[in-house]
Amino acid sequence: MRFFLCALTSFMLISAPAFAATDVQSIRQATANVDTAAIAATTSENWLGHGNDYREQRYSELKQISADTVANLGLAWSFDTDFNRGLEATPIVVDGVIFVSANWSVVYALDAKTGKQLWKYDPAVPREWAKMACCDVVNRGVAVYQGKVIFGTLDARLIALDAATGEKIWETQSADITAYPYTITGAPRVFKDKVLIGNGGAEYGARGFVAAFDVNSGEELWRFYTVPGNPADGFESAAMEKAAATWTGKWWEYGGGGTVWDSMVYDPELDQLYIGVGNGSPWNQKVRSPGGGDNLYLSSIVALNPDTGEYLWHYQETPGESWDYTATQHIMLADMEWQGETRKVIWQAPKNGFFFIIDRENGKLLSAEPYARVNWATHYDLDTGRPVETERARYETKPEFIRPSSMGAHNWQPMAYSPDTGLVYIPAIDALFKYEDVEDYLHKWGQWNLGVKLEQDAAPNHVLAQLMMKQVATGSLLAWNPTTQSAAWSVPYPMPWNGGLLATGGNLVFQGTATGEFRAYAADSGDQLWQFDARTGVMAAPVTYTVDGEQYITVLAGWGGAFGLIAGIEQVTQPPPSRILTFKLGAKGELPVNPVKQINPAPEPGEVSAEDLAAGRTLYHEFCAGCHGTDAVSNGAVPDLRHLPSVYYDNFDKIVLDGVMRKMGMVGFRDVLTEEDSALIKAYVLTQAQEDREIREAKGWWASVKMAFYKVVAAILGWVMNYV
Ligand code: HEC
Repeated sequence: MRFFLCALTSFMLISAPAFAATDVQSIRQATANVDTAAIAATTSENWLGHGNDYREQRYSELKQISADTVANLGLAWSFDTDFNRGLEATPIVVDGVIFVSANWSVVYALDAKTGKQLWKYDPAVPREWAKMACCDVVNRGVAVYQGKVIFGTLDARLIALDAATGEKIWETQSADITAYPYTITGAPRVFKDKVLIGNGGAEYGARGFVAAFDVNSGEELWRFYTVPGNPADGFESAAMEKAAATWTGKWWEYGGGGTVWDSMVYDPELDQLYIGVGNGSPWNQKVRSPGGGDNLYLSSIVALNPDTGEYLWHYQETPGESWDYTATQHIMLADMEWQGETRKVIWQAPKNGFFFIIDRENGKLLSAEPYARVNWATHYDLDTGRPVETERARYETKPEFIRPSSMGAHNWQPMAYSPDTGLVYIPAIDALFKYEDVEDYLHKWGQWNLGVKLEQDAAPNHVLAQLMMKQVATGSLLAWNPTTQSAAWSVPYPMPWNGGLLATGGNLVFQGTATGEFRAYAADSGDQLWQFDARTGVMAAPVTYTVDGEQYITVLAGWGGAFGLIAGIEQVTQPPPSRILTFKLGAKGELPVNPVKQINPAPEPGEVSAEDLAAGRTLYHEFCAGCHGTDAVSNGAVPDLRHLPSVYYDNFDKIVLDGVMRKMGMVGFRDVLTEEDSALIKAYVLTQAQEDREIREAKGWWASVKMAFYKVVAAILGWVMNYV
């Protein structure tokens, strides 16, 4: 017996390395080895850094799942998270364990083979803080470093957990949320025993910065502000003094913006950090810097010394930013042949619609060519490195339709690059936005401060509005050749806001879509080879890895985010729980069908004057649309205010003004809205409900004629808009 046990244990010991184990000891051992060198060395079994290795190319050499075998790919398992809002995270995978963040900054560790939960950590984000998040209660991922899982929370804390158990090791408030309403949705980056994190808040009047923390203690090591503060308080650095000379007026009273809410990349070859800086706050430059100026370092890539946070160089993509054109989009590092020389470059496709190639040794612009339709600038002057703007760009004298829209020609959804094809795969957006000054701009703490009218002059009713949106806001998977700076191929999508990308050695690219499919395309030709019904819009980027020699693909499926919430695209079903999906060859799993949406009959609005209706509509779009959706049409994850059980209409003021549901993420607005305002909003919502009911219940030839008429009008308008 004794001999037998000995033989068994030695067999297990010998064979242990071949099998991934998910017990505490194994996780501790595996994650202890994740450090700067491990993340820098590209491995295909694991997914150790946010974009795989530090270059963030999101490419894996794995090819068990390939163009030849992908038809046989199926769902191995799915894991339901606790909520149904947007999921945006890229998981980190270490030796068979997935570490991933979800809604409300909740973090899970799962067995990659089975989807079994190993631990969960809920940082108990106060639900009220959702009001300070422009773009849903999302989180784009965790970092793993020497046995720790590190992540940011919506209320701007940075937390390190024991990767093996999920127990908290340290926690620090990374930004003062009493000074400005900061939020963290981005994934921290780890390098040289440091954790780097930025934050969001530039829609609310925040002052952007990034800070590095000691990975072992959580102590702040350095901080780099991206925009200058009040000169009377003195400048933090020479870089800030230099920046202040490019601002006018009293910008500091508005915060200035420049938040670093997503892209931060460490470059181990040059030992430099690159941060992608966000938009101005408020968006409209005429408000925040009335005398113009470049407004450094808005909309720039800034290179920093990773040990001290000192400024090294910058390249500003959009001087005098006035359109929410962030440079926070995915920064990818590459070596490329450029005019006969091998150059170390940055590739970026930021919101402003140009694909940038920047020499990362010195920040010099090598090339900028439009990868989408743009009308704010004609081209970049390579001598000055500056865009040549069109006359309409700054909406100086009248409202202007500008491309790309504030959503950008590409948003946070990560790109991927395949060295096999030499192509960069971009989740591209084609849309426009009407930029219009607001009269009597009033700066408010804790509210959106854009200086631009958010309420677009929509159609006479929401059906027409949604049909029109389909005409003027679409998306594509764009395969871009950075060597020729031109498109190789593209796959059109009916909607914008499709998912991030993964490229693999199997000649495949994987992408989820806004319309709920998870797809594989041939990386060289763009032919669609496979798809899976994810039952909800997929925004996050997939990852791939192996466990026990078998290749897996994991992606998060949960619709939401900025566009998902605000566009309020009506769903016919209830949103399913947001899920983590994992695929492998030969698996055959399916997801349950979504439950049918509950539509409660709202009360009649009664008599409402046209004036009151217009006032209610404006208030609704200023205070409610960001979560409940444009025209009171919601995606369902946040309630559709047109279809509530009557108890909510009866207690409208208690909810909307007093905030009795604040613990559930529905804050009160007593500080900014009166009872009269609340009544106007309610009247608007009930009128929208009535209109919706009439359209739903409309039957017969007259209803069909009306709908056909709407479709024709929308098509004509869409066609006209093509010429903008
Ligand atoms: C920051 C996001 C956010 C904003 C802004 C917001 N809401 Fe909400 N609201 C929510 C969430 C989340 C819920 C759902 C709470 C729950 O039921 O779990 C909700 C619930 C409600 C409800 C109750 C319905 C229900 O089924 O729970 C009403 C009524 C409501 N909101 C009205 C408004 C109005 C009117 C405004 C604008 C003045 C507004 N909300 C602004 C997030 C928001």
